Amino acid sequence: MPAADPRVLPRILSGMQPTSDSLHLGNYIGALVNWVRLQDGFDAYYFVADLHALTVPTDPAVLRQRTRVTAAQFIAGGVDPERSAVFCQSHVTEHAELGWVMNCLTADGEARRMTQFKDKVAKGQNANVGLLTYPMLMAADILMYDAAYVPVGEDQRQHLEITRDLAERFNTRYAAETLVVPEPYIVKESAKIMDLQDPTSKMSKTGSSPKGLIDLMDAPARIAKNIRSAVTDAEAEVRYDPETKAGVSNLLVIHSTLSGTSIADLESRFAGQGYGALKGEVADVVVAAVEPFQTRLAELLADPAELDRLLALGADRARGVAQATMARVRSAVGLLPAVREVH
Ligand code: TRP
Repeated sequence: MPAADPRVLPRILSGMQPTSDSLHLGNYIGALVNWVRLQDGFDAYYFVADLHALTVPTDPAVLRQRTRVTAAQFIAGGVDPERSAVFCQSHVTEHAELGWVMNCLTADGEARRMTQFKDKVAKGQNANVGLLTYPMLMAADILMYDAAYVPVGEDQRQHLEITRDLAERFNTRYAAETLVVPEPYIVKESAKIMDLQDPTSKMSKTGSSPKGLIDLMDAPARIAKNIRSAVTDAEAEVRYDPETKAGVSNLLVIHSTLSGTSIADLESRFAGQGYGALKGEVADVVVAAVEPFQTRLAELLADPAELDRLLALGADRARGVAQATMARVRSAVGLLPAVREVH
């Protein structure tokens, strides 16, 4: 198949915060594997949301390192930086500028009603105004690129709804069709990876125990061990049923997503075999995905100049689109054009 022409493909955009030192299997399967696949049918923009990460105070050196590692992980996971734009949000300064315009379109009460903000405040997080306006910056990220679709998890649905509202509000208030109203592209439920020890809750860096989590930086032997000791159930039937067989279903989803084998095929293949056989094969499939990932990641992290070059390439491409959007936005809202030459 000839390479698709990015100029005629619909655009998609997604981002991830650099909030931890490595991704876990849930981020990888739930987001990254999907990002990689979408490169074939879309003109894709994938960025590290480093401005969003400032909403939680972080040591500057740690933030810098996590930003590098997060970008490198996108690429190690299969995002092709020559084809898709891979960049840091802060390298395209237009994000902050459009974020301001979005803030000025949002009612105070509307921002305070967002569930993630309310939850974080309820949990006692010391909220700054950045956390309150987080969704407006996210709306700016999306609307900047005229994204047709935004592939995100279910937890981001409300952020997409407010993005759509803000785009419509902008177009109504200022100038029709200035901003493209994006469609959500919620990654299907089946791509949600659960904790191996507590398969009714999501695998998470902060919520999962070390045995419940698979960190993509873990040694393969440890990954295999965690999978072999995953909690299942008292039956011995390999069947997908997330309600009553959460542990086995989680293993089937992990296998199916990484191997491309359908769950139905896996069920018949493992019929009559115990959970040991399933676990052994899931461990092999995960290790086979993780090993090349780790190798590529180590290469990228050992060559910061190359990573910088790739991020500059992505930022240049992103900036081209961002500047065009901002020119439309500035003109629509009535900001005076800046005259660069002094006569
Ligand atoms: N809020 C997203 C998350 O925590 C990250 C993000 C920021 C994002 N800006 C975005 C995702 C724009 C998609 C599009 O996962």
